[in-house]
Amino acid sequence: MAAAIKKVGVIGSGQMGNGIAHVAALGGFAVVLNDVSAERLKSAMATINGNLSRQLAKKIITEDARKSALANITATEKLDGLSDCDLVIETAVEKEEVKRKIFHDLCATLKPEAIVASNTSSISITRLAASTDRPERFIGIHFMNPVPLMELVELIRGIATDDATFDAAKAFVTQLGKQIAVSEDFPAFIVNRILLPMINEAIYTLYEGVGNVEAIDMAMKLGAHHPMGPLELADFIGLDTCLSIMQVLHEGLADSKYRPCPLLVKYVEAGWLGRKTQRGFYDYRGDKPVPTR
Ligand SMILES: NC(=O)c1ccc[n+]([C@@H]2O[C@H](COP(=O)([O-])OP(=O)(O)OC[C@H]3O[C@@H](n4cnc5c(N)ncnc54)[C@H](O)[C@@H]3O)[C@@H](O)[C@H]2O)c1
Repeated sequence: MAAAIKKVGVIGSGQMGNGIAHVAALGGFAVVLNDVSAERLKSAMATINGNLSRQLAKKIITEDARKSALANITATEKLDGLSDCDLVIETAVEKEEVKRKIFHDLCATLKPEAIVASNTSSISITRLAASTDRPERFIGIHFMNPVPLMELVELIRGIATDDATFDAAKAFVTQLGKQIAVSEDFPAFIVNRILLPMINEAIYTLYEGVGNVEAIDMAMKLGAHHPMGPLELADFIGLDTCLSIMQVLHEGLADSKYRPCPLLVKYVEAGWLGRKTQRGFYDYRGDKPVPTR
């Protein structure tokens, strides 16, 4: 029997964390949203509020649903505020050492029967599970960005994940109205294993001068019918996240075809991380995005 999930903790209130809190609260779960930064928590609550209002204006949700979703979410800077959650989803930065520290600290206060999940884009679920006191109740629940709009969630079992945990995660994701693709625990799973090398190749195309930012994005939008160009998409994902995923692929699969483009490294070193810092392959500080190359 799958354990009943009623209260969900979300660690990290960035673009993915606020999206996961949003859909879980709309799905009827009590949600506790955590971040180390009070400012990020405040801005996440404002984003959730704004996105729920937009859904109401588009008649996707009712006023009652908007109100009860907001009432379902509480925010805390303290990890022990999540101790009585039935499921905790970690969605902090894509750095293994940060995630391992979070799991270590979380497990010290979390009730033993609770399930722990990571929204990692690429890091081994088996390895993250091994840093907890409950590898059998650890699973990858990988949401797509933007969470309220995207239909897919990847579920990834670690080597020790038990059936009850998998079933509970499946029931949780289904209650959010999302579709599930099950992936084996290999670097970057399914979506990012395919998507990120394409984005990295687009950055090489820019780096080698084959085309400029506008030409590359237009080529893939009009020539391959992609809804967003690959460089625009990289800015949307976050260039730090893109680089971390390519590093995990490069190290995990030991194949030079996954070598992160030096231009991607340079943008990250500059702190030009895409939309979240207002600058990446486009500059977002004006009325409309302007290519930076
Ligand atoms: N961006 C995407 O398109 C995307 C899609 C799917 C999955 N992911 C994954 O989701 C995770 C988060 O990505 P994001 O785009 O939301 O990043 P982000 O940079 O927008 O947000 C990360 C948040 O984590 C917080 N944080 C850092 N250390 C913390 C800690 N110790 N405890 C609590 N909070 C902490 C930061 O303050 C920040 O608010 C990453 O693992 C990423 O790979 C990202």
